[in-house]
Amino acid sequence: MTTPLKLHKVIKRYGERVVLDVDQLAVKGGKITTVIGPNGSGKSTLLRIMALLLVNDAGYLEVLGETVKWQKQQLLRLRRQMSMVTQTSFMFQGTVDYNVAYGLGVRKISEKAVQNRVAEALEMVGMSAYRAADAHTLSGGERQKVAIARAVAIKPRILFLDEPTSNIDISSAAEIEKQIKNINKDQDITIIMVTHNLFQAKRLADEVIFIHEGHIIEQGGQDLFTKPQDLRTAAFLRGETVF
Ligand SMILES: Nc1ncnc2c1ncn2[C@@H]1O[C@H](COP(=O)(O)OP(=O)(O)OP(=O)(O)O)[C@@H](O)[C@H]1O
Ligand SMILES: [Mg+2]
Repeated sequence: MTTPLKLHKVIKRYGERVVLDVDQLAVKGGKITTVIGPNGSGKSTLLRIMALLLVNDAGYLEVLGETVKWQKQQLLRLRRQMSMVTQTSFMFQGTVDYNVAYGLGVRKISEKAVQNRVAEALEMVGMSAYRAADAHTLSGGERQKVAIARAVAIKPRILFLDEPTSNIDISSAAEIEKQIKNINKDQDITIIMVTHNLFQAKRLADEVIFIHEGHIIEQGGQDLFTKPQDLRTAAFLRGETVF
């Protein structure tokens, strides 16, 4: 699958206001795409629509080779192949193990395989020592790591990360960045990640999308960071307010 996600003339409105207006977007399969842009530019809205958690008002999407019809059976099938980590992660009542295993319950895999995947995912985020801990007692950053483990444990085809390291200290964030790269390479998972950290975006990106006022202004490879084509991209990368 070379293009697991395509958007065609996708529009999202809240009341009268258009918050997202994407003419065409194709996400490259097996790559890490980072999404950058100012607050309120529509990054999370874009991710939620792509993850089929929010319905667009116009246009259509193609996800994993299927045109999205927003019909129950199809949504279930497609959503099971994707997972999302947000800035504030919800923890279910129970242990860390239980939280990571959560998404695996509906899948047809043995109890032994569930345990293996949970152990593997927690190892990856450096949280193995917390397996039996009550999830509600974890710090913000620890929760975030568990949320990443939970998202990865299901072995999704597409992984969405919305500012996944914003609560995490620098050395843990560096470790998670390394793991994000490993997940992408070893398991061939397409990753789409929003980040406000431009250094992080640059370190991780095979592809980068700059979004401003609901529009994709520019999409490209590493060149976008060094030779942006649009003045607004250049201003944003310099840390200036974009008009
Ligand atoms: N449920 C909603 N009702 C009304 N407006 C909304 C709703 N959700 C988002 N918006 C508006 O849509 C715009 C885009 O929001 P979005 O969360 O996608 O921005 P963002 O780029 O992720 O910003 P940030 O960097 O702050 O996370 C914002 O102006 C926001 O206020
Ligand atoms: Mg956001």
